[in-house]
Amino acid sequence: MRGELMNKTILVTGGCGFIGVNFVRLLLETRQDLQVINLDKLTYAGNLQSLEGVADHPRHTFIRGDICDPELIDALFTEHGIDTVVHFAAESHVDRSITDPDTFVRTNVFGTFTLLEGARKYWLDQGKGNNCRFLHVSTDEVYGSLGKTGYFTETTRYDPRSPYSASKASSDHFVRAYFHTYGLPVLITNCSNNYGPYQFPEKLIPLILNNALQGKALPVYGDGGNVRDWLYVRDHCEAIVRVLEHGQTGEAYNIGGHNEKKNIDVVELLCDMLDTKLGLPENGKPRKTLITMVKDRLGHDRRYAIDAGKIDRELGWRPKYTFEQGMKKTVDWYLENKKWSESVMDGSYQQYYTKMYEQK
Ligand code: NAD
Ligand code: TYD
Repeated sequence: MRGELMNKTILVTGGCGFIGVNFVRLLLETRQDLQVINLDKLTYAGNLQSLEGVADHPRHTFIRGDICDPELIDALFTEHGIDTVVHFAAESHVDRSITDPDTFVRTNVFGTFTLLEGARKYWLDQGKGNNCRFLHVSTDEVYGSLGKTGYFTETTRYDPRSPYSASKASSDHFVRAYFHTYGLPVLITNCSNNYGPYQFPEKLIPLILNNALQGKALPVYGDGGNVRDWLYVRDHCEAIVRVLEHGQTGEAYNIGGHNEKKNIDVVELLCDMLDTKLGLPENGKPRKTLITMVKDRLGHDRRYAIDAGKIDRELGWRPKYTFEQGMKKTVDWYLENKKWSESVMDGSYQQYYTKMYEQK
């Protein structure tokens, strides 16, 4: 059964970011009935090169633009007849939110509000609401930090503690407010830490992979005992499709990988995997010797862990990849796609837009 997603025209925001790219690729690979309108500002985190091979797909339209631009948003809804929104676009890196919180408020809060307004005007003022869905992609970080035990459920009280999670929590509240006040058909997903292909190498796993391959120091914050619950990005994207098809509007669904790991264990595992696959580096020392304990992140949340029971019970979704399988696929992908990482690190990925669109 294809539920609520048949023949839809989907506005994907942030479709050139890490999860957005994997989601756009999944839709284009697996669904013949959908049109994908990909709106992305191409900030430092947006990478059109990640859509190489599918950017020109007849069912994919890329538009460079800002979710905070109300005129653009209104025009997109009308011109393309958008009936589904999957909203990924955000500033997503906690460390950047500590040094530069302004853009987080602008994009994550005002940008989400602008999209909600666009949807409200185009869907509700014209009586189209029943056939439409607005799926807001959020994070488990809105729930704050756990002690040694316990899990986040959909009813856990919000307690965001970084500028990033505060901005995401605020956007979640706006999304809920539009459901309760106007009846906008919204869905919210709160997921744990994703990993997999096309992730910008400022986040733990790709950063450690790249540094280890270059023989650079591997920075681990604090005592390395902070825990994250890792979710393979393909599993996350499939969960989003499931929520779009079968989710109940007004509801939130937690999505997690059942993979709680201490950061230090993740970093050591990556080092061991590279040593096994590539052999020891020229100096003969295991890559673990590159691990460097560094000053802790300000306000560093200690532990995240998701109870993903609701989406399993109600929508029949559970992750397919174990941590070991997902990590193997991830390491293989980064080794096979060194050019992708190189172009991100030397900045040349930012010229891809000019190559693809401005020279045509
Ligand atoms: P990302 O940083 O890799 O990508 C974000 C994308 O949004 C980029 O392509 C960027 O160019 C675009 N963007 C930023 N500001 C924009 C604006 N004003 N207008 C239009 N586009 C803009 O992020 P990601 O890791 O792919 O995360 C996607 C979503 O998932 C985010 O909402 C994030 O909060 C959420 N999330 C991510 C994780 C994770 O582990 N990565 C976990 C939980 C939730
Ligand atoms: P990150 O990938 O930034 O995701 P988030 O902060 O959203 O969980 O970080 C994952 C964990 O790894 C987090 O506990 C911080 C830690 N970390 C390091 O120890 N070293 C690093 O260089 C980075 C980027 C993160």
